[in-house]
Amino acid sequence: MDIVVVRKDLPTHGRVAVFAGRDGRLSAAAAELDRRSGGAVGRALAMLGPKPEHGAVAELVLPRGLDHERVLIQVLGFADRAPTLHDLERAGARLVKAAEAARIEDLAVAAPTGLDLGTDEAEAVLALATGAHLRAWRFDKYRSRDEEDGGPRPRRLEFLSGTVPEARLAEARAVWEASDWARELVAEPANVLDPESFAERLRALADLGVEVEVFDADRLRELGLNALLAVGQGSARPPCMVVMRWRGGDGGRPLALVGKGVCFDTGGISLKPAQGMHDMKWDMAGAAAVAGALRALAARRAPVDVVAAVGLAENMPSGTAQRPGDIVRTYAGRTVEVLNTDAEGRLVLADVIGWVVERHDPEVLIDVATLTGAVIVALGKERAGLFASDDTLADQLLRAGEEVGERLWRLPLDEAYRELVKGEEADLRNIGRGREAGAIVGAAFLAPFVGERAWAHLDIAGVAWADRERPLVRKGATGFGVRLLDRFVRLRYGDGGGA
Ligand code: BES
Ligand code: MN
Ligand code: ZN
Repeated sequence: MDIVVVRKDLPTHGRVAVFAGRDGRLSAAAAELDRRSGGAVGRALAMLGPKPEHGAVAELVLPRGLDHERVLIQVLGFADRAPTLHDLERAGARLVKAAEAARIEDLAVAAPTGLDLGTDEAEAVLALATGAHLRAWRFDKYRSRDEEDGGPRPRRLEFLSGTVPEARLAEARAVWEASDWARELVAEPANVLDPESFAERLRALADLGVEVEVFDADRLRELGLNALLAVGQGSARPPCMVVMRWRGGDGGRPLALVGKGVCFDTGGISLKPAQGMHDMKWDMAGAAAVAGALRALAARRAPVDVVAAVGLAENMPSGTAQRPGDIVRTYAGRTVEVLNTDAEGRLVLADVIGWVVERHDPEVLIDVATLTGAVIVALGKERAGLFASDDTLADQLLRAGEEVGERLWRLPLDEAYRELVKGEEADLRNIGRGREAGAIVGAAFLAPFVGERAWAHLDIAGVAWADRERPLVRKGATGFGVRLLDRFVRLRYGDGGGA
């Protein structure tokens, strides 16, 4: 479905949507339709009850006095407060849902002029459109026809507003497109998206002025990224590392983004149970998130220098696969006892982080990974786990997460936990002891590879894929991390005077 923001008047026919406040106040467009329909808009709104909830939608079919086929009226706001941007995004998503339920093919949405939106109209319209965009995305490229759907599906949603500056709209569109792109990468099955084809898709970022370099398995061997190679050695499809560079800043020490890109995680010789194993096609969501974030930053020409690096591998059991008990020398020189081949993400990250740190000496490093099932036990599917060596960095990420609705929760990373990953016959072991603190163990394993710098680790295992419908996205790939990192960059590095 196309979601667009255009400078246009409300059409006098067809299907339209208007807004009302929770107090019954009508937006300018809603008031106008109400007047022309002899109060039908107000009456429809009253059907939602005396205190309708934020986002609720009332519907008028063929209202008397108007030439419109349908008028949707959506409530914005709460009893005690104006909506936040995140609330507005949810409302936009809900409007798409209502349009789908009503089988409306195209909808023109009037600006919410005259309501208390807690922000200026342009930002409110962008937030509504963003939510609509997120909810509208679906992964249907492999469906030949839609059996569940008998009727028409929404095709186009137009937000009508004269107040959104062109530059701001272009920035928002950059983020929408990056998020869609990342979600498609996450959703692609592993027979389509393997390390090589993933790298090929990342090469497309060159069109936006991103420098893309692919390190194939031979290069990785020369350099000594043995841990990444070890994870991929059981697969017929060789691993690789892709490094993407956006130079929008002043050439100082860059921001580094590192992503886990395990295109499929069978567990390897420490094989996972069959139940739910198909979920491991999205074990590359961290890599998709950092690539998506970089795409957004490049597309909106963000004033920051970023190096994004992803380790891509397929974790398979075979005659060439690594075995439990193998000892591997990482790029950074530290040795690891691979006691469980299913704790492969940290091996991938250790090498890519080690390489990025040595080669680029980043000022800040953020890694994103579907690293542990344990983080889902701890936090469920509402928030991703945040680990940070630096309070300012942690606060900026937490705040960015609240603003875009990709929420985080900080977990501890004390020195004391490092004890759990000390090896016996090598420097480190790749699993902890027993079931304790599984998500923290993952982070503690990475810490020595980062060294002394501001670092954050985001464990997105619980949030990368929605196993049921969520307020902003339908079931499937969420793109978690793209909007979060984009907003984080805005908070930390400014928006370059774009708007
Ligand atoms: N990719 C998984 C983690 C995961 C689980 C992601 C569920 C998304 C949903 C990771 O590679 C893994 O297998 N982790 C193990 C670690 C254990 C062996 C220490 C886990 O969480 O069980
Ligand atoms: Mn695993
Ligand atoms: Zn994994």
